[in-house]
Amino acid sequence: MSKMKVTSGMRPTGDIHLGNLLGALDNWVSLQDEYDCYFFIVDWHSLTTPGGNGAVGYENVESLKANVLSMAIDWMAAGLDPERSSIFVQSHVPEVAELHLIFSMVTPLGWLERNPTYKEMVSSYAIESPSYGLLGYPTLQAADILVYRGDYVPVGKDQEAHVNMTRDLALRFNNLYGKDLFPVTEALLTEVAKVPGLDSVDRKMSKSAGNHIALSLSEEQTADKIKSMFTDPVKIRKDDPGHPDGCVVYAFHQIYNKDLTGTIRAECEKGARGCVDCKRQLAESMNRALRPIRQKRKELESNPERVWDILAEGAARARKVASGTLREVRETMNLPERRNNHG
Ligand code: TRP
Repeated sequence: MSKMKVTSGMRPTGDIHLGNLLGALDNWVSLQDEYDCYFFIVDWHSLTTPGGNGAVGYENVESLKANVLSMAIDWMAAGLDPERSSIFVQSHVPEVAELHLIFSMVTPLGWLERNPTYKEMVSSYAIESPSYGLLGYPTLQAADILVYRGDYVPVGKDQEAHVNMTRDLALRFNNLYGKDLFPVTEALLTEVAKVPGLDSVDRKMSKSAGNHIALSLSEEQTADKIKSMFTDPVKIRKDDPGHPDGCVVYAFHQIYNKDLTGTIRAECEKGARGCVDCKRQLAESMNRALRPIRQKRKELESNPERVWDILAEGAARARKVASGTLREVRETMNLPERRNNHG
C-alpha cells in the first residue's frame, strides 16, 4: 500500500522563529517517517497582501527571494529531509497555477466572502483595497494541497477554515464531474506547544509582533532576547516571592527545562531564585537545544547553490505528481488534450 500524503506550506516571512519551530516544524519533521510529504514555501501566497513595514507583499518584493532561501535553510536545519520529503517552492510547480484557475471557476464567491481569514487579513493588515488574489487565497491553497492529492494537512487552528474549504472544493469537483479524483482532505490539528511572545504569556510569538526569537540569532543575541522577556512585575528584588504562571521565562522553562519545572517553580515562589539567574539558566538550555540546528544552518548558508539545487529537485519530484493530476483533471472536464506537449 502506498503511503498517505501530507502537504503543508508556509509563507516566506523571513527567518523562522521558535514559534514556527515548536508550533509546526518539529511536527512536520516527525511526520516524515510515516507519510509521503510535500512541504512548500508559498511565494505566490505572500503576494496576496500589499506588504510593507519589512514584510513581503505585492508592493514590496525586494526580499522575497532571500526570504525563500532563508526559509528553506531553516527548514532543513530543523530536520526536514529532502531525501524523504519533497521540499520546494510553490511557484516552481506551475501546475498549481493551472489548477487554481480551474478551481476558481467552481469556487462559489460566497465561500470566499464568508472566509473568516479573509476578513481578519483585511482588518489586521488594514488593507484598503483587497485584491482578487487575496479573496481567492483559499482557492490557491486548495490547489496547493489537491494538486498532490494531499490526504492530511498539518496546520494550526487558524488554518482550519482553509482546509475545510479545500475539502468542500474537492467534494464539489468530484460531484460535478462524477469522479473521485480528489481525496477528502483533513487538517491534522496535532497538539503542539503554545509558544508565547517575549512580551507576554498571553500573546503568540510572531514575527509581525516583533516578539520572537529567530533561529538565525547567535547565542549571545538569544541570551539578550531572554533578558528582555516579561517577568513577574511585582518581583523586584531577588528574594521577593514570584508568580511563575504569568512569567514568560517560566513558560520557556516548561519547554526547555521540562524536568526542572517543579524546582524552578518552588524556588521562584518562595523567593529563592532571582530573575537574572533564572534567565541565564534558560539561555543556556535554549542555546544548547538550538546548537545543532544553528550549526546545520551555517553549513547550508555557506552554500546557497546547493540549497537551490535541492529545491529544484524537490520541485521536479512534485511536478511529476502534479502534472499527472492535471492531465486527469483536463480529461475529466473534457478539455482538449495537448498534443506534442509534455506536461
Ligand atoms: N495559508 C497558510 C498559512 O498562512 C500557508 C499555506 C499556503 C498552506 N498553502 C498551503 C498551508 C497549503 C497548508 C497547505 O500558514
